[in-house]
Amino acid sequence: MIRVLFATSEVYPMVKTGGLADVSASLPEALCRLEYDVQILLPGYPDALKAARKAGSRRKVRFQLGQYNVSLWQTRLPGTAVTLWLVDCPPLFDRPGNPYKNEQGKDWWDNAHRFELFGKVGAMIATGEAGLAWKPDLVHCNDWQTGLIPVFLEPYRARPGTVFTIHNLAYQGLFSHETFRALGLPDSLWRLEQLEFHDQLSFIKGGLVFSDRITTVSPTYALEIQSPEFGNGLDGLLRHRQHALSGILNGIDTRVWNPEEDPELAFHYGQDHLKNKAKCKASLQQELGLEVKGGPLMGFVGRLVDQKGVDWLLSVMPELLEQGCQFVILGSGEDRYEEPLKQLARRWPGQMSLTLGYNEGLSHRITAGSDLFLMPSRFEPCGLNQMYSLRYGTIPVVHGVGGLVDTVQDPLDVGIDKANGFVFTGASAESLLATVNRALLVFANRKQWRQLQGNGMATDYSWKQRARTYGDLYQCILKEREQ
Ligand code: ADP
Ligand code: GLC
Repeated sequence: MIRVLFATSEVYPMVKTGGLADVSASLPEALCRLEYDVQILLPGYPDALKAARKAGSRRKVRFQLGQYNVSLWQTRLPGTAVTLWLVDCPPLFDRPGNPYKNEQGKDWWDNAHRFELFGKVGAMIATGEAGLAWKPDLVHCNDWQTGLIPVFLEPYRARPGTVFTIHNLAYQGLFSHETFRALGLPDSLWRLEQLEFHDQLSFIKGGLVFSDRITTVSPTYALEIQSPEFGNGLDGLLRHRQHALSGILNGIDTRVWNPEEDPELAFHYGQDHLKNKAKCKASLQQELGLEVKGGPLMGFVGRLVDQKGVDWLLSVMPELLEQGCQFVILGSGEDRYEEPLKQLARRWPGQMSLTLGYNEGLSHRITAGSDLFLMPSRFEPCGLNQMYSLRYGTIPVVHGVGGLVDTVQDPLDVGIDKANGFVFTGASAESLLATVNRALLVFANRKQWRQLQGNGMATDYSWKQRARTYGDLYQCILKEREQ
């Protein structure tokens, strides 16, 4: 059985700021079902440790790392058989709220130290130096917070194989040269071909330069990031490593996201019995104080940041509200988006609802109760919400980038018989508006709308097949390392 250490900075339901948490829970579980021994490594955030203690878990080992006392707790990912290791180091991880930011929304001042320590512990487990009875054949790293693991493993002759998955190339873990020195990393790493990026220390480059294989979360994003437009300055490096780079589309947890049984919904429905979807819509309208009426109701759930195209959304909303459309928005993020959204919500009570903050239950009810789900992302490595929507018979309207291209098919491209949503290709608010209007024409045609819903709901978005592709990749790396 292949043993894999899956290192991540968030995992659902312990800690979540975005899709990484969902994937970090559902992919290891799917791999365990395929008989891979995948164990997750997560920083010991307070909620995670609390859950572990409540589950009766124990501290397994304790050691000194520089000035820090570190211990490793072994527990299970709630509701699964997957082993979860927590890196307990209170001065670095015992902080409330968001894993990366303080209450003022500023990055923790010592993020480099926090995730360097996390990386060191990951590498110690991988080489057997942490004193655990378990030692992985492979380490699967995710995003910049784990980027130093392959760097620390590099000097070891008999090191395990390494995979680095890019969930979002826009977040790179950049720090000053002073921080580089403070971490005590060898000077030899301060080179363009190694960790230096425009006179800064780049954690993500550790993963991109030193791991055996690089993956990202959709085939289209794997191509896009090799171009200057989407490469965030790393496209040259990624082109250089293109033979080691592949795109594997994310799956979703089809048990958590299932309209037939979702405990967050008052009414349940499925592909052959959609009637209750209208009841979900009415109860969502009621819950949020919107006028209970026929539609169209458009949903948006996500981080209110540049990536998600919120400015395009803001520009098209007034016209669509004038036309009588309703909007339900859930998210949190930058003031420059929150403020104008608040103004719109004040101006259009009954037609627009805005919930600022994070609300798991409401996100399920929006996914079920909306007619259309908007994802005008400027770029989107994979995107999970469009797949949740498709499974819930809610038609996505998306920008044609990244994983959105790989999951949403437009009637103009494949015909109404095969389509499941709408895709706009021009990177502009006009293009979004034209496509929403095109979607509204189809919405008015009951039969065609049902066809789109059926097509979306009939597709398999689970990890079953997609996790196999990771499994094949693991085997491939191990074979290569044997030679
Ligand atoms: P990203 O990781 O870029 O934020 P994804 O589409 O991959 O985008 O995943 C976002 C995940 O976070 C989804 O599960 C989505 O439902 C959830 N999410 C984002 N914002 C909120 C929020 N305010 N409340 C509840 N869930 C949210
Ligand atoms: C990132 C991306 C998102 C992707 C998620 C999980 O946060 O922004 O597109 O779905 O990671 O891989």
